[in-house]
Amino acid sequence: MKMMFNAAVKDIEISGIRKFFNKIQHIDGMISLTIGQPDFPTPTHIKAAAKKAIDQNHTNYTHNAGIPDLRIAISQYMEQKYNLYYQADSEIIVTSGASQAIDTALRTVLSIGQEVILPAPVYPGYTPVIKQCGAIPVFVDTTENEFKLTAEMIEPHITDQTVCLILPYPSNPTGVSLTEAELKDIAELSEKYNLIIIADEIYSELTYDEKHTSMGTLARERTITINGLSKSHSMTGWRIGVLMAPSHIAEQCLKVHQYTVSCASSISQYAALAAYTAGINDAEPMKKEYRRRRAFTEKKLLELGFDVVKPDGAFYFFAGIPSGAASSEQFAIELAEQAKVGVVPGTAFGPEGEGYIRVSYACSEQQLTEAFKRMEQYLT
Ligand SMILES: Cc1ncc(COP(=O)(O)O)c(C=O)c1O
Repeated sequence: MKMMFNAAVKDIEISGIRKFFNKIQHIDGMISLTIGQPDFPTPTHIKAAAKKAIDQNHTNYTHNAGIPDLRIAISQYMEQKYNLYYQADSEIIVTSGASQAIDTALRTVLSIGQEVILPAPVYPGYTPVIKQCGAIPVFVDTTENEFKLTAEMIEPHITDQTVCLILPYPSNPTGVSLTEAELKDIAELSEKYNLIIIADEIYSELTYDEKHTSMGTLARERTITINGLSKSHSMTGWRIGVLMAPSHIAEQCLKVHQYTVSCASSISQYAALAAYTAGINDAEPMKKEYRRRRAFTEKKLLELGFDVVKPDGAFYFFAGIPSGAASSEQFAIELAEQAKVGVVPGTAFGPEGEGYIRVSYACSEQQLTEAFKRMEQYLT
């Protein structure tokens, strides 16, 4: 039987991270440093709020944009944490994870043939959505600039078709973030060329040395801010993200959101209400632990001859493989098969990732220690 499919969907591939994971998952006794989610349980008070919501029968559809009290709590939280000012009733949409916020933002903004600028290597969640919109991703290679995207690097890639810029910081896969001064330059450039900025700040709370600056404080009128609870509150499975934008953008986004999911899960929204009211410091103990693991991982990678750019946030190192390896993929496969340590080949984040691996430290110190012991034996 001949099947007809949307050409853009046929053109999309499953994520390189998933593909690679499928290749190595049969290996017995492997320690995985491939993890893209926190290894801590969701804080107890959040779980209690969800249980209570079930018992109180909060099991219906909510307002499309999210429970009003939750949006008020998000508005206050964002103001307190980042000096961001978004109106609860018209500028905040609660989504099913940051993934759906990204999807909604891109599908609201993009038309066929338009171009979107994004850094490379980059989280693989953007390109497939851009392609489904019939738009064109334009990558700016950051490997020669310690994975930092700057206004100067962006400008030559801007054409008459460019409408949007995606800024994920701190970055997955590199952990590198952007300073206020760097963001200001990008804000000015976006003003000059009338670009919308999609600022994916899902790792904003996992910033270790400097204070995180939100793009929405610098270019409010043209920024769609993406955030959520997946990383900060260890809530990946609850699927709570947040899209924040000035009302003239948010009202367009709400239409797309409404016809995609109606609303985020009601029970998860009640859990989120607890996180955004009583959980403002929930990330602190996790951050403390990540900071220690970051120091340990950096030391070990350097000892083993990897090229390392110290990450500012998230929980990844994007490490340059010591010379001599055939390819990132080959290196990662051999490491998995022979040392029983799983890492993600850099090419899962675009061709610019050739020569690198992504190492996640979202796992216990014990696992990290054992993984590096095995890597050391294998590499030496
Ligand atoms: C940069 C980035 N944005 C968005 C997401 C998706 O987050 P969520 O699980 O909330 O959909 C991820 C998940 O790994 C990510 O790394």
